[in-house]
Amino acid sequence: MSPGITALTQELDNNMLIAFIGGGNMATALISGLSKKVEQGLTIRVAEPSEEARARLQSSFDVFVSSSAASVAQGADVIVLAVKPQVLPAVLSELSGTIEPGQLVLSIAAGATIAAISQQLGPRQVIIRSMPNTPALVGEGISVLCAGEHCRPHHRDQAERILHAAGEVLWVDDETLMDAVTAVSGSGPAYFFLLTEALAEAGVRLGLKEDVAHKLAECTCIGAGAMLKQSTSGQSTTVGAAELRQRVTSPGGTTQAALNAFADGKFKELVYAAAAAAERRGNELSLAAAARGPGK
Ligand SMILES: NC(=O)c1ccc[n+]([C@@H]2O[C@H](COP(=O)([O-])OP(=O)(O)OC[C@H]3O[C@@H](n4cnc5c(N)ncnc54)[C@H](OP(=O)(O)O)[C@@H]3O)[C@@H](O)[C@H]2O)c1
Repeated sequence: MSPGITALTQELDNNMLIAFIGGGNMATALISGLSKKVEQGLTIRVAEPSEEARARLQSSFDVFVSSSAASVAQGADVIVLAVKPQVLPAVLSELSGTIEPGQLVLSIAAGATIAAISQQLGPRQVIIRSMPNTPALVGEGISVLCAGEHCRPHHRDQAERILHAAGEVLWVDDETLMDAVTAVSGSGPAYFFLLTEALAEAGVRLGLKEDVAHKLAECTCIGAGAMLKQSTSGQSTTVGAAELRQRVTSPGGTTQAALNAFADGKFKELVYAAAAAAERRGNELSLAAAARGPGK
């Protein structure tokens, strides 16, 4: 193949028409990330019922907006389902019969299984389910993806290209693990907010002024996160959370005294119980959605 033909093929491969169904928080985070990357060959359409949201999207980004999901999905390479789970059955019934089986349907709707989506769109539809998390809103998210049986490598590439716009991307092969993913990264940001809140309250009980205690707890959370980020993004010297904790814990010192109190209170068991509760709830919500069936 001549260099000219290779370049042309790459250019064609880079072209991607993405149809977002739902133009809320998560879609906006992804569109914003994709826009900042100034990628060549991306065309973005958004279906969104709210006129105000459509105007906001159009004034902020180079996107085509419409109130009709079916019209934005027509001819798209990837259809991103970015509506709330309870709205999803109605959206899927609007899309069924309009979209082709080979178009990639990338769902970010929490709890919506590949089987439930394919039940409405047909058994041959190419589907990828993903679970992003809230830090995607600031470009620091992590999304876990699971591919349906008809996915080919280029579909995986397309999904990664979209979700990379909001942070990191990982894959799982077993879809049943998505509830565990939800329990760790999906619900996880709230656990860190809770710890920050609890630490601020502890500071107040120890005599600090409320604003001082909150500032200390918040900056400490941000600083610890930044250290973890820097240490885990190194090429060869990756250091995890446990190693960082050990490095800031002198034997017999103040941090050691606090960590002993955490251990006495069975902190790790408590975190496990919390994550397990989130996993169970995720599973219950998926089952309840499946039991309601399409369009109910
Ligand atoms: N936010 C997160 O951190 C997060 C994390 C993981 C997964 N998710 C998943 O991401 C999905 C979107 O969440 P979000 O936080 O972005 O929700 P959101 O801000 O409520 O966005 C959903 C958007 O979809 C629009 N919509 C409703 N019906 C529609 C229809 N028939 N056709 C097209 N658009 C329609 C809504 O418009 P109206 O407001 O006018 O109804 C709203 O703008 C959810 O399924 C959620 O489970 C979110």
